[in-house]
Amino acid sequence: MSTRTAIVTGAARGIGAAVARRLAADGMAVAVLDLDESACAKVVAEIEADGGKALAVGADVSDEAAVAAAVERVATELGAPTVLVNNAGIIRDNLLFKMTVADWDAVMSVHLRGAFLMSRETQKHMTEAKFGRIVNLSSTSALGNRGQANYSAAKAGMQGFTKTLAFELGKFGVTANAIAPGFIETEMTAATAARVGMDFDDFKALAAKEIPVARTGRPEDIANAVSFFAGEDAGFVSGQVLYVAGGPKA
Ligand SMILES: NC(=O)c1ccc[n+]([C@@H]2O[C@H](COP(=O)([O-])OP(=O)(O)OC[C@H]3O[C@@H](n4cnc5c(N)ncnc54)[C@H](O)[C@@H]3O)[C@@H](O)[C@H]2O)c1
Repeated sequence: MSTRTAIVTGAARGIGAAVARRLAADGMAVAVLDLDESACAKVVAEIEADGGKALAVGADVSDEAAVAAAVERVATELGAPTVLVNNAGIIRDNLLFKMTVADWDAVMSVHLRGAFLMSRETQKHMTEAKFGRIVNLSSTSALGNRGQANYSAAKAGMQGFTKTLAFELGKFGVTANAIAPGFIETEMTAATAARVGMDFDDFKALAAKEIPVARTGRPEDIANAVSFFAGEDAGFVSGQVLYVAGGPKA
């Protein structure tokens, strides 16, 4: 079997960076895609230092033309992408009565439009190869979370999107699954702590009190789950949502 090529969106930092490193360690060539190409250089260098193969790609996942160009470049420079991790994400939290249309649209655009465009563009490579793995990042917020009307709707939407891809693409050897993380220590959760005026360590300690395994999650916890869904052995697992939250969230 030749080396698989994976694209991980939002991979310059946080969960995406950990996923990119893990898939490279699993033997895949990895496109580290994020808004700013230069911001991907560090993750690419880390992968290369460990003997892996990676490419920095700058693209906004919500921009149709940019997505087409990025996927084309990955296919040419790394090989046909048959593994896709839709991880790019933003938060624009606010209570409903204060949420602007711009807050709503921005969140929908990155998570849902982004995952749609990336999946549509890469599926041709997957169906041609008769192999594909799509892993979408949902969230425990899909179950509802105060201050996140936009984000929870987008993350619930990711689950429906995943299940439809599983139905449509299954016969081509392509699986689609979603991972719904709980609290993971990244700049996203650090920003939430800052928004509510809390020190990040205090914020994590408070969150850990509500988590059955008594700790907050790390990006590697999510990368481990992605590694399973993206692997050769997971071909009969499709349309699933795995809560990786230190407890039974759903
Ligand atoms: N951190 C958590 O607790 C948590 C929990 C549940 C789900 N998630 C989800 O996991 C994913 C990663 O989260 P994280 O905590 O690592 O976030 P993060 O903010 O640390 O990283 C997100 C990355 O996505 C990139 N990005 C944003 N918009 C983009 C766009 N339009 N095109 C390309 N890249 C873009 C950012 O530049 C950034 O590098 C997100 O989808 C998030 O919603 C995170």
